[in-house]
Amino acid sequence: MKENYVKITATGTYIPPKILTNFNLEKMVDTTDEWITTRTGIKERHIVEETFSTSDIATLAAKDVLQKANISAEDLDAIVVATITPDMLFPSTACIVQKKLNIQKELFAFDISAACSGFVYGIAIVTSMIKSGLCNNVLLIGAETMSKFTNWKDRTTCVLFGDGAGAMILSKTEDKNENSILSVFLGADGKYSDLLYIPAGGSRMPASEKTVKENLHTIIMSGKEVFKVAVTKMVESAKKACELAGIKTKDLDLLIPHQANLRIINAVGERVEIEPEKIFVNVQKYGNMSSATTIIGLSEAIDEGRVKKGSKVCLISFGAGFTWASCVVRL
Ligand code: UT7
Repeated sequence: MKENYVKITATGTYIPPKILTNFNLEKMVDTTDEWITTRTGIKERHIVEETFSTSDIATLAAKDVLQKANISAEDLDAIVVATITPDMLFPSTACIVQKKLNIQKELFAFDISAACSGFVYGIAIVTSMIKSGLCNNVLLIGAETMSKFTNWKDRTTCVLFGDGAGAMILSKTEDKNENSILSVFLGADGKYSDLLYIPAGGSRMPASEKTVKENLHTIIMSGKEVFKVAVTKMVESAKKACELAGIKTKDLDLLIPHQANLRIINAVGERVEIEPEKIFVNVQKYGNMSSATTIIGLSEAIDEGRVKKGSKVCLISFGAGFTWASCVVRL
């Protein structure tokens, strides 16, 4: 029997047009452009309109990638959405995207909850689905409306996040030369689960007058602790993904680390043996878009011509849980 391989057919994005700058934030909380720039590298972030939900921006990213892949939505066998800001607890945002794409044929759809690592977890899951013969063309999306779960009175978190969506079509191929997914590495450690979380709205603390009054439906983070583990685990992950792909980090054409903080990106860059110009950075424009971050980075790198057919790219992510994940892809 022939072996199945997985190729990246196309990538796409949707970035909401509305921009919130550091100067806008200066008028909302006790902060300064100078503090945000020097501590995080972020200058601005994009925010959805009030009427927009995660499925709306996920659907727009899906339309972009379908057009670039030159395939019809009817050719898809599955839709997988990585998100921690779903439209609702259920049904999955993936099912809502299926409805918004007006797909008539039967397919399967589900969400992944692995915080900022969700998209790379998605690459691992979808790769297994395709290799096992379960499906041929899968739409994988990373989409977040972080602004909807932000406490706009908390200066320690509200300056950090942004909204956006990225999408990828992964397809079956029997030609080994077309194989795009050279390695995937996943990790998690739940002992850190109370360092970055949204306390209310789940079964432990359902919505009540008290949870709304105390802003418990928004992100709470112990920034310093997250920072330290993020650097360690992202460095480990980059090295591990390269080792599994049988290459050295210096053989990569581009490293796309999770974009939470420029200081984290620089610290990772120093510890991974790679030239600084091979490290992709867009945190200044978008802030931290959680699971949408790495796929938007990859899609932009392709559109900007920073990578081309045959380039080897390592994506690294880190987020709540804690979770971490990395992969090496060949375009
Ligand atoms: O997506 C998951 C991954 N997430 C991350 O990786 C985030 C990781 N953490 C970070 O990026 C950083 O820890 C932060 C950017 C969140 C914070 O930077 P920091 O250098 O660790 O600052 P800090 O929390 O130690 O705060 C330093 C000071 C504090 O004041 P005091 O206690 O020294 O008087 C804060 O109250 O800065 C103050 N501060 C601010 N000042 C102005 C915190 N936020 C702000 C702000 N504007 N927005």
